[in-house]
Amino acid sequence: MAKIGVFDSGYGGLTILDAIRKKLPQYDYLYLGDNARAPYGTHSFDVIYRYTLQAVKYLIEQDCALVILACNTASAKALRTIQQHDLPLINKSRAQKVNVLGVIRPTVEAVPTITKTGHVGILATPATVSSESYVLELEKIAPELTIVQHACPMWVPLIEAGEHNEPGAKYFIGKYLREILAKDPQIDTLVLGCTHYPLMKERIDNWLEFRHELDESEFPQPTDSPKVTTIAQGELEADSLADYLKRHPEYREQLSQGGTCTYLTTENADRFSQSASNFLSAPICAKTIQLGD
Ligand code: DGL
Repeated sequence: MAKIGVFDSGYGGLTILDAIRKKLPQYDYLYLGDNARAPYGTHSFDVIYRYTLQAVKYLIEQDCALVILACNTASAKALRTIQQHDLPLINKSRAQKVNVLGVIRPTVEAVPTITKTGHVGILATPATVSSESYVLELEKIAPELTIVQHACPMWVPLIEAGEHNEPGAKYFIGKYLREILAKDPQIDTLVLGCTHYPLMKERIDNWLEFRHELDESEFPQPTDSPKVTTIAQGELEADSLADYLKRHPEYREQLSQGGTCTYLTTENADRFSQSASNFLSAPICAKTIQLGD
């Protein structure tokens, strides 16, 4: 019987895994974080595609019938090529088909139901922003929305280094939020378009709530700007997967139902176990693996 694989460049996919396991606790999961090579978001298409394909193939070899790319960067840069080019080759030699799903589409579908001003901001890695995936997908389903994007290259490194709750992180949290709101002060919905970002959602929301009172007089925030809601992807992805499994018995019926989760990382297993246990508020024990061609 098969598992559900959940892949991210590092710790961010844990925010997706956590929500999926709450919604669908019965299945067996295999989490893989490529922490040794994170962040992905500053790499070129070729590198992101190659790393993501290596991870997908590894998870399929470990009996995953479905692999969730719990990473916007991998979803934006590699998902389509893997689905159109690599999966047909992989499935050719298999009795039971496997599939790979991403996180961008379920998030995009939720955005028009949340914004009231119609002004939406996308915070993401440089690679996700340059792919324009969010803008292109949103234009298809809600062309009336005004969308601005902003890259936050320091947020993933801060989280991977465990520095995001330290006082120094405040500078970079404020910097990117100020910069995106300066691009469009009417934004009322900010998509956390990187699965790492919910790990500091509390600090992001706190900055947004109290931005008019901050001691940053050189960057005054307009007092008439709307309240901003941040969108994290976990529950959206969990609902989308539940719906997908309902519609696709060919995958659902392959899945084992032991309720377990195994954690793999390309980094030091002790370090991963400690950080992941903090993020998930539950003790976990990870194993180190190597990815390659
Ligand atoms: N969690 C990944 C994402 O959703 C982070 C990518 C990175 O490693 O830069 O984009």
